[in-house]
Amino acid sequence: MGKLQGKVAIITGATSGMGRDTAYLFAEEGAKVIITGRNEERAKQAVEKIRENGGEADYVIADMSDRSQLKKIVDYTLEKYGTVDILFNNAGLLSITPTLSMSEKEWDDVMQVNVTSALTLTQLVAPIMKEKGKGAVINTGSIAGTSARWGPVAYCTSKHAINGLTRALARELGPEIRVNAILPGAIRTAMLDSVGGEETMSGMIEMAPLKRIGEGREIATSALFLASDDSSFITGQLLRVDGGIDC
Ligand SMILES: NC(=O)c1ccc[n+]([C@@H]2O[C@H](COP(=O)([O-])OP(=O)(O)OC[C@H]3O[C@@H](n4cnc5c(N)ncnc54)[C@H](OP(=O)(O)O)[C@@H]3O)[C@@H](O)[C@H]2O)c1
Repeated sequence: MGKLQGKVAIITGATSGMGRDTAYLFAEEGAKVIITGRNEERAKQAVEKIRENGGEADYVIADMSDRSQLKKIVDYTLEKYGTVDILFNNAGLLSITPTLSMSEKEWDDVMQVNVTSALTLTQLVAPIMKEKGKGAVINTGSIAGTSARWGPVAYCTSKHAINGLTRALARELGPEIRVNAILPGAIRTAMLDSVGGEETMSGMIEMAPLKRIGEGREIATSALFLASDDSSFITGQLLRVDGGIDC
């Protein structure tokens, strides 16, 4: 039996990268998965791949920068699968704009996608999890959330905020709901490619004891740990998955 047999999981930002790898792994472990993102083609492909492998999945197209689109994710999940056990707040917007060029809109979008959407979706699923007596929420931070070294202002601030959000939610939503965060280092995804890929990360790779960038599947296995009963006594924690970078 899979570690998530019969569980229902919502994964935001699952049309690509580490969210998609997590959707594949959760489905392999028996979860029914709702994939979200803006790109319908990629959402469909991910769902088809899961179904071809014998898993259960569906998708909801929603733009996380628009707060009014979030409720339909939870509504569709309830309509389709009747409940929700796991929420992986993974969708993220990378901004590399320096402070003096930052528009209000860009700042607001980064905060909305990276932080506020995680709060809103948690507010929507928490009553269901509370009533069931059990649930797991996983947020996605970054090593840019523990040091200003790795990210320009909006991204860095949003990822620091996720740490506080995770701790505060864990405190408020227990004992039924566990809330933890994964803080990835450099992981091979489209987002990393958008800033030059592995080559631009040579300084980071050099600093890491494991001397390489990570793979999306390595985030997926960490998410599986935090979503499953393997982490049943763990909440409010920030799990760095970064090859051991010390800042
Ligand atoms: N890769 C890294 O090195 C790294 C390091 C630290 C933290 N992270 C974090 O890891 C998470 C996943 O990133 P990734 O590296 O896997 O990047 P990715 O491959 O670019 O995936 C990003 C995902 O977020 C979704 N997304 C972005 N903006 C959205 C919006 N406005 N509305 C709905 N969905 C949106 C994208 O979906 P659509 O394109 O379909 O909208 C996509 O599925 C992010 O939170 C990121 O900040 C990544």
